[in-house]
Amino acid sequence: MRLSHLIPLRKRLRRDESALSADEHVAAAAEKRAEIRSLPALTISQRLSVKFPTQRGWLFDAAKRMGFKTAMTMMTDIKADGMSADSLIVGESRGMDELRRLVRHVAPTNASVIVTGPSGAGKEVVARAIHAESVRAAKSYVAVNCGAIPRDLLESELFGHEKGSFTGAVTQRRGRFEDAHGGTLFLDEIGDMPADMQVKLLRVLEERSIQRVGGRGQIAVDTRIVSATHRDLDQAITDQRFREDLFYRLSVFPIDLPPLSHRREDVPLLVKHFLRTIADKKRTVRFTQAAMDKLVAHDWPGNVRELRNVVERATILFPGDMVGAEQIDLILHRRGRTTVAERAALWEATELAAPIILPTPANEPQPAAGGGPLLGDGPIDLKSMVAEFERDFIGEALRLSSGVVADAARMLTLQRTTLIEKMRKYELSAKAA
Ligand SMILES: Nc1ncnc2c1ncn2[C@@H]1O[C@H](COP(=O)(O)OP(=O)(O)OP(=O)(O)O)[C@@H](O)[C@H]1O
Ligand SMILES: [Mg+2]
Repeated sequence: MRLSHLIPLRKRLRRDESALSADEHVAAAAEKRAEIRSLPALTISQRLSVKFPTQRGWLFDAAKRMGFKTAMTMMTDIKADGMSADSLIVGESRGMDELRRLVRHVAPTNASVIVTGPSGAGKEVVARAIHAESVRAAKSYVAVNCGAIPRDLLESELFGHEKGSFTGAVTQRRGRFEDAHGGTLFLDEIGDMPADMQVKLLRVLEERSIQRVGGRGQIAVDTRIVSATHRDLDQAITDQRFREDLFYRLSVFPIDLPPLSHRREDVPLLVKHFLRTIADKKRTVRFTQAAMDKLVAHDWPGNVRELRNVVERATILFPGDMVGAEQIDLILHRRGRTTVAERAALWEATELAAPIILPTPANEPQPAAGGGPLLGDGPIDLKSMVAEFERDFIGEALRLSSGVVADAARMLTLQRTTLIEKMRKYELSAKAA
């Protein structure tokens, strides 16, 4: 769809509407919304231009004429209409067809859905698709990663708190349940929820109301719950780490995602999809048939996320090129570490002007010969060296895991909470990774 399709609408919006009665105004606004809704799904840039109307002066005018609220509703409708199980879930395998069918089947109901499957398989994609296909699509979709939030903050994050209810609660704050009122709350990594919070969550699901931390009254919430975990919850129930009664509440409709290695035929489509989403078209790459065969044959332990990272890596390392099987080998077999040449390409890609000094035999630090003493002549600052080392590794793990703290923690064989503490210490944020 080209933006020119919106022009008749623009003309109509420019008409003086001040003479309309209240009823006519409402009817006109509904008609405009229906007109926009009937348009084919908007591309991301078109949606952005609607969300940030200053980019398109005429749309901003329209928003002013229609009144802010109507304009906001219209924008939310557009956002919701642009997303669907079809546009979000890429893949033509039987597994993906079945998945889209399940999503469409369950989305219109209020049933709690639990999505299970290995890391990076697309559990959050499913949660978004369920929201987009539901009658709640025009309301908020709120995601909470239960494993990444320190246990003592999780209650306030979910249910909110009253001013002064604990040290640091300087203002009253709504919780994520309230934020998702009328919409969908995605509880990610539910298997990592501490036992005391499991009890509280169960009560909320039964009573359909929450109590803010430090609050007295109950606040009714109408929130649809979709949860996800990569853990084996059956085992967690047997080990008494997860409450069986909560499990039954959450898993009215379970969806289990297959790993990417069980639906290899989706790889080419996914590659195409990720290439389409690359903002800088100059960096885009093409893959030879041999390269694509390698990608299809790979085992993908990190599933779709790993495939996305490989495609992104290819566009950074070989912008504008035809990527062959050898380059794919290079990327696939050097997942964590990078060669000097790759590092140089990555630096260049970040457009940092600073010169890159590549280690040469002459300036590369040499290991102590013959297992000699590690300490040289002078004293060293061991503490800060260790801290620098730790910071670098955490940063790298967060980057490789696209900011997913749970994955980074696994790479570093750290407890998630330990990693979060260290991230705080080094002022590293998952988002910036
Ligand atoms: N079927 C799919 N179609 C398009 N993109 C997908 C699909 N599945 C996954 N992705 C993409 O792969 C990446 C990982 O997906 P997602 O975050 O949903 O995985 P996950 O199962 O929630 O992983 P984790 O267990 O690590 O949280 C995201 O960038 C997502 O957009
Ligand atoms: Mg996830």
